[in-house]
Amino acid sequence: MKESQHRATFGGRISAVLVAAGGAVGLGNIWRFPYVAGDNGGGAFLLIYILCILFLGLPLMIAEFSIGKATHRNAVGAFHLLDRRWSGIGYMGVLSSVLILGFYLVVAGWTAEYMIHSFTSDLVRQTSAEVHRHTFEAFITHPWKPVFYATLFAAATHLIVTLGVKEGIERAAKVMMPLLFLFLIVLSVHSMLLPGGIEGLRFFLTPDFSKVTASSVLTALGQSFFSLSIGLGTMITYASYFTPETSIRHTALHVTLLDTLVALLAGLMIFPAVFSAGIEPAAGPSLVFITLPTIFGSMPLGELWSTIFFLLLVIAALTSTISLHETVTAYLQEEWALSRFAAARCTTLFTALLGALASLSLGVLQEWRIGGLTLFDALDFVTANILLPLGGLLICVFVGWRWKRDEIASQLYAPTGGAHRRPGFSIFRFLVRYFCPVVMLLLFLDNLGWKLF
Ligand code: PFF
Repeated sequence: MKESQHRATFGGRISAVLVAAGGAVGLGNIWRFPYVAGDNGGGAFLLIYILCILFLGLPLMIAEFSIGKATHRNAVGAFHLLDRRWSGIGYMGVLSSVLILGFYLVVAGWTAEYMIHSFTSDLVRQTSAEVHRHTFEAFITHPWKPVFYATLFAAATHLIVTLGVKEGIERAAKVMMPLLFLFLIVLSVHSMLLPGGIEGLRFFLTPDFSKVTASSVLTALGQSFFSLSIGLGTMITYASYFTPETSIRHTALHVTLLDTLVALLAGLMIFPAVFSAGIEPAAGPSLVFITLPTIFGSMPLGELWSTIFFLLLVIAALTSTISLHETVTAYLQEEWALSRFAAARCTTLFTALLGALASLSLGVLQEWRIGGLTLFDALDFVTANILLPLGGLLICVFVGWRWKRDEIASQLYAPTGGAHRRPGFSIFRFLVRYFCPVVMLLLFLDNLGWKLF
């Protein structure tokens, strides 16, 4: 692996954690998690979600990190090196990253527009939820505004990725992740102190198992994968930049903890505010773009809180679009022998175009359907329900059954070795060989419409 010696690496352990956590923490934690939890029994869902993270998400992240760190290659190149016959997993990962970017850029663009409008304060001055709903619908169906913001987001992502792994991606994560935590803590403390906020806390943290169904378990599983960014090679790509001293186990554990902490804090920020305003919590995806702006409108200093909240979303979205972009750029750069600049330019042009079409599919191109869905919904459906669980399943089977036990052990316990004496290693092997593939197969079949429960 001669060329790996010329490859960039992250500065060290903390950088590795911050960059990978930046890839994982995103709109999935702050925009999606609270409403999914709200729809599925609050605290009970949280408990199931944490179990999914521990027994499925964490082992899979360790598996992806091991592949990346062992090979120092992009998602496709890694499998070329380990076993060419499994390269399909890498190609699927690159494809999934492109498709996810297609709709993720659109939602990211909405957050940017809302941030700017909160700042210029005309958003917050509107008072009723009806007016906010109307504003939101008019914006997402507008013929050019959401396209403009999605393109702006693609351009910002492009700029950071072209600056390079160290100067661009690592530096951005080191600035943005601490800011993200700061804003999240400030907002959740403020929200919990609102009158009546305690009711929201109770709703979020008290388990109500009567609302839990088999499908909530599958929802928790899908949410945990999406939130941790696993199943599509992003974590393989990032781990290929780890230094030899970076521990896979510790990094995976820290990234998983941080990602879960952000989802938890997002719940602590959103539910008290929603209850304090006397609004139904199960408000679906519109929770963030309709319910919350309504609540900000009725608060003292609403403009300020609203700006900080949407800035938080912009940061979370940007660290994730960078990770998706890098997965594609690293592939093009290394496998197609392009310069980093050319590889990033191809990725940006293509995904920005896809994003523009996905955005228009909610408005002027609404008639244009794929299997009955708009392009925006089709991209979300195909990636979340098919490509991610399938990618996760195949990565597990590869690491559990194809990769030699000693090779994984040497990745996980380098440089001290001694995997055979560690109970944690046996548990990891059991999870990736048996438990994870079976559960993921069930999830995959269920997503394809084979109702199993
Ligand atoms: N984990 C991101 C989120 O929670 O928003 C979404 C995501 C990013 C999924 C990168 C997959 C990925 F490769």
